[in-house]
Amino acid sequence: MKDIYILAIETSCDETSMAIVKNGHEITSFTVLTQMDTHSQYGGVVPEIASRMHTENITMVLEETLKKSNIKIEDIDAIAVTYAPGLLGSLLVGVEFAKTLCYVYQKPLIAVNHTIGHIYANNIDNKLKFPLLALVVSGGHTDLILMQKDYQFEILGSTLDDAIGECYDKVARVLGLKYPGGPNVDKLAKEGKPTYNLPKPVNDNTYNFSFSGLKSHIINLVHNETQRGHEIRKEDLACSFQIIAVDELIRKVELALQKTKVKDLIIAGGVSANKHLRQETHKLAEKYQISLNIPDFKYCTDNAAMIGAAAYPLFLKKEFADFTLNAQSQALITK
Ligand code: KG4
Ligand code: ZN
Repeated sequence: MKDIYILAIETSCDETSMAIVKNGHEITSFTVLTQMDTHSQYGGVVPEIASRMHTENITMVLEETLKKSNIKIEDIDAIAVTYAPGLLGSLLVGVEFAKTLCYVYQKPLIAVNHTIGHIYANNIDNKLKFPLLALVVSGGHTDLILMQKDYQFEILGSTLDDAIGECYDKVARVLGLKYPGGPNVDKLAKEGKPTYNLPKPVNDNTYNFSFSGLKSHIINLVHNETQRGHEIRKEDLACSFQIIAVDELIRKVELALQKTKVKDLIIAGGVSANKHLRQETHKLAEKYQISLNIPDFKYCTDNAAMIGAAAYPLFLKKEFADFTLNAQSQALITK
């Protein structure tokens, strides 16, 4: 069979990223232009700035991606783009750019759901093995998903309030750490001990998560202690928070592993870069004698390589989008 090259575009948040992906898993060329330094001055992503920066940079990112690959755009088989979920203005830049390229170069257009992209990041260096259980943990998602086959998603549970990444970012902010907070809390936690007594998130037997109680408790604790002139042991608080938050993820994953007979456990999304979570899921996979699939660090946070990987099964099924495709800030994980 002829090799299939997909040009993938991802602009759902604050990374302008493109990749050329061969046969759904070989990364021929990969570019990520992050706006992190700009947004960190404001303590979080400013949507208007993000979309303006995508507009300024997107042509340059395309040129660089093509140059690194030695492939001409005429030889690309399809163009894939993240259409949802994410920041509307940011998504629109990518969607309109992809549609224009498809129109000019007469290429099929593939619409990819960003969350599905995170899952298929695990199909780049490894293969997804079905049935599998996916823990999707990012700035916008905390989902436990059962997959019996390609592109079939059964959501077992989700967060009832804050996503785990959002919670990491808020805790980082109250501890005075720079945006994006997750990696900084992760780093600081390693220097501390779990000496703070924090409330455990909902202690139920569903597959749902809740992190807002834990987050509010930490914010109140820091404010109260600061007002009283008491010192906050930041590394100990980061460590105490990380242990409780990851324990909760692991507890629900274990519950699902006991009930479903899966062969493979995968973690996806930005928080899958978390060292403690990676260690704990390794232990769990060993205990249940199943394989564990976690993306390489560069494919954990937002990137276009995962969008190209997720687009490939759609290409094979000829599930193409037309020019009425629009960006959506929210979307269910169905397609
Ligand atoms: O998947 P992603 O890049 O963007 C979304 O789709 O949301 O995830 C970003 C989130 C942020 O909340 C960031 O703080 C978190 O992932 N994150 C981490 C780590 N690296 C990124 N959280 C905890 N530990 C990390 N090492
Ligand atoms: Zn993401």
